[in-house]
Amino acid sequence: MGHKKTVSIIGSGNVGEHIAALLVLKGAVNIRLFDLPKKDGEKLYPHVKGKALDMLQMACAVGIDSDIRGYVVDQEGNGYEALLGSDIVVITAGFPRKPGMSRDDLLSINISIMNTISKKIREYAKDAVVIVVTNPVDIMSYAVYKLLKAQKHKVFGMAGVLDSSRFRAFISLELNVSPKDVHTYVIGGHGDEMVPLVSVSNVGGIPLANLLEEKKIKEIVERTKFGGGEIVDYMGTSAYHAPAASVVEMIESVAFNSHRILTCSAVLDDDSAEYYGAKDLCVGIPVKLGENGIEQIIKVPMTDYEKELWYRSIASVKKNIKLADEFISKYL
Ligand code: LAC
Repeated sequence: MGHKKTVSIIGSGNVGEHIAALLVLKGAVNIRLFDLPKKDGEKLYPHVKGKALDMLQMACAVGIDSDIRGYVVDQEGNGYEALLGSDIVVITAGFPRKPGMSRDDLLSINISIMNTISKKIREYAKDAVVIVVTNPVDIMSYAVYKLLKAQKHKVFGMAGVLDSSRFRAFISLELNVSPKDVHTYVIGGHGDEMVPLVSVSNVGGIPLANLLEEKKIKEIVERTKFGGGEIVDYMGTSAYHAPAASVVEMIESVAFNSHRILTCSAVLDDDSAEYYGAKDLCVGIPVKLGENGIEQIIKVPMTDYEKELWYRSIASVKKNIKLADEFISKYL
């Protein structure tokens, strides 16, 4: 293989760490992992260095030639020099919502974190493709796009690949078929109003409606929409295996220029990128991903009912974008 691409992952929590581990085991890219030190009482541990070393040794244990390094950063944005030369930057850093914290508090804190990180990406890796994972992902992708002053095809968020995987998992369990032959799109905002597109979903080319009763399809659609919550209920914390694997699918399509069609939270900011009335926001739509990021927007046909769901979903994303705009404008 020729020159390996470099993927930098900012935030080594559950999702960031698992993205790194999956990439290490594939051995096809160089990996840089960044995180704050971990506080334990008075002591600060540079734990991201330990994680990187541990994963490097994991690669050696299974005979894979991988390159992963860990870098300690601080909240002021020091320590990001190693972003230099990154082809892809993945942002997983951010706060989860804690008890007593309002949605606004969370938005304001995470946007300030996106601002610090965006500055550093601009300084060291301004041409990189940036994949945003931090929730609420549609809003954070939009914030990074604005703060980075990036070209719109270079910044997008991960959600649709994950939501589509959940939809495919439930269909494949129900029909006892390989998920490889289940094709679905879940578009719209990554929230309760996401839109699993039943009309174009198929198994081996056969429309879903020909294979399952309407009631069963409805059940699967509902389970998909609350697929993240189902896992939080079991674990008391968010999912990370499927989210990490979904990010890796996106990374690979960019790193190897494979032109996969994957649903991403994409910037729709003018008439040229119009998608069923959605404008001035980031929201999940199918796109073609290559080495420069989004190469093409794929306009999927929708039924009137699906369009209604889509409009509802974008209205709910739009509400939060308005709120986010106030916080973002402080940094512009
Ligand atoms: C989920 C989180 C990652 O859907 O948003 O599980």
